[in-house]
Amino acid sequence: MSYVLGLDLGTGSLKGLLMNREGLIIATKTSEYDLISTQPGYSEQRPADWIEAAKIVIKDIIAEIPDAAGQIEAISFSGQMHSLVLLDQTGAVLRNAILWNDVRTTAQCKTIMDQMGARVIEITKNKALEGFTLPKLLWVKENEPEIWSQAARFLLPKDYLGYWLTGNQQMEYSDAAGTLLLDVTNKVWSRDILEAFDVPADFCPPLVRSIDCIGTVKQEIAEELGLTSDIKVIAGGADNASAAVGAGIVHDNTAMCSIGTSGVFLAYEPDGTKNYEGHLHYFNHAEPEKYYSMGVTLAAGHSLNWFKKTFAKDLSYEELLSGIDEISAGSDGLFFTPYIVGERTPYTDSQVRGSFIGMDVHHTLKHFAKAVLEGITFSLKDSQLLMEQYTGKQFEQIVSVGGGAKNKDWLQMQADIFNAKVVTLETEQGPAQGATMLAAVGAGWYETVSDCANDWVNFKETYEPNPQKAERYRLLHKKYQNIYPATKSLFASTPN
Ligand code: XUL
Repeated sequence: MSYVLGLDLGTGSLKGLLMNREGLIIATKTSEYDLISTQPGYSEQRPADWIEAAKIVIKDIIAEIPDAAGQIEAISFSGQMHSLVLLDQTGAVLRNAILWNDVRTTAQCKTIMDQMGARVIEITKNKALEGFTLPKLLWVKENEPEIWSQAARFLLPKDYLGYWLTGNQQMEYSDAAGTLLLDVTNKVWSRDILEAFDVPADFCPPLVRSIDCIGTVKQEIAEELGLTSDIKVIAGGADNASAAVGAGIVHDNTAMCSIGTSGVFLAYEPDGTKNYEGHLHYFNHAEPEKYYSMGVTLAAGHSLNWFKKTFAKDLSYEELLSGIDEISAGSDGLFFTPYIVGERTPYTDSQVRGSFIGMDVHHTLKHFAKAVLEGITFSLKDSQLLMEQYTGKQFEQIVSVGGGAKNKDWLQMQADIFNAKVVTLETEQGPAQGATMLAAVGAGWYETVSDCANDWVNFKETYEPNPQKAERYRLLHKKYQNIYPATKSLFASTPN
């Protein structure tokens, strides 16, 4: 039996997924690590903790499937994007990694946008956001000069794991795209941006493709973990790109709606020439030469969790959501905007806050629950509309994953609001599935990522839009879109 192993380096844990040549899941293990926050807005992790977690996960998998020890053909990765791992000349880690959800870099983002905003968007296809890597580099340079003076290289989390396993430093395109230093269309580090912000060019590692072999597992690590040392290590992809691969988003006019704590509406892009003017993320895909666009709702599942915890903590999710299909589309006039921690797409506004609008004496708890689901989905619809408006795209199929795929009424609501066919996956393993597929392609089991996806990704249920409801939701979404401009002045830097 031959296997491939995917390691997904998430924000809370590292997950390993072992699959065989038939694309069957053989074992999956997880190991958690801590977030370190010494000040509000700070979010860090120790790269050594990721390595410990990877060791635990690999050992646990081998303990469960002993014959895997000598029969893993390739290992690959997916990982949290943007997070900065700073190394010195010898490759030693200089400070904790500053994570994607750390927001200390507002001033650096302003500097980047003031100094060359339009050009940065032109080159990187993205706006400077606190989460991205360049603002973090500039923060270290300004605030920790003694660390900056020793810095020789930066890596991203999953690329750091690749370095640990092989001893080779590199960065893969779908992750490099989230640094704000990559010329996304031409797939080279941007000299203009590096020079403008005085970041030495050799800070940036060589670029590789997701399916490229970056080396083999070092002998001493193989011995420690009980593996053979000729295992190929394949570069892997950013978590969103890998999740897209795992959901089969490798064809034109397909998209993924992923509802976790945050929500993502992500669409396949056949080329890197679109211009969304920074209103959406636009990154290199983990399928070489392809791209994806992406909008983010900061509090998707988070809004529902908050609502349940605050107003219905004694009910289960099933109880809270049962019967919402009996309430009319639009919750009888009640709207919810999910901006409870600010919003990313389409407003990039950290000050705005959520609202319930249109409360009526007849509304019940179920109306509120339904309005919350509608508000989350309307926010993701904003991203879908941007994609359609800029490119004339027409989505044929949207793959729903995460919490939003666990409730049939919400799935039907997604089909009606997106006005597109919504499907669910037979098995859902998130980014780890994509990582494992990249390992399979890197191992030579498939020629291309889409060949592997065509074979390994299977759909379960299909939800077709109901034309009357879709039309009603189209009109309701227009009203929803009026809420942001009408309420934003209530929140912008005004005293409480
Ligand atoms: C993407 C982003 C997050 C991280 C989470 O821009 O910030 O989705 O990749 O891991």
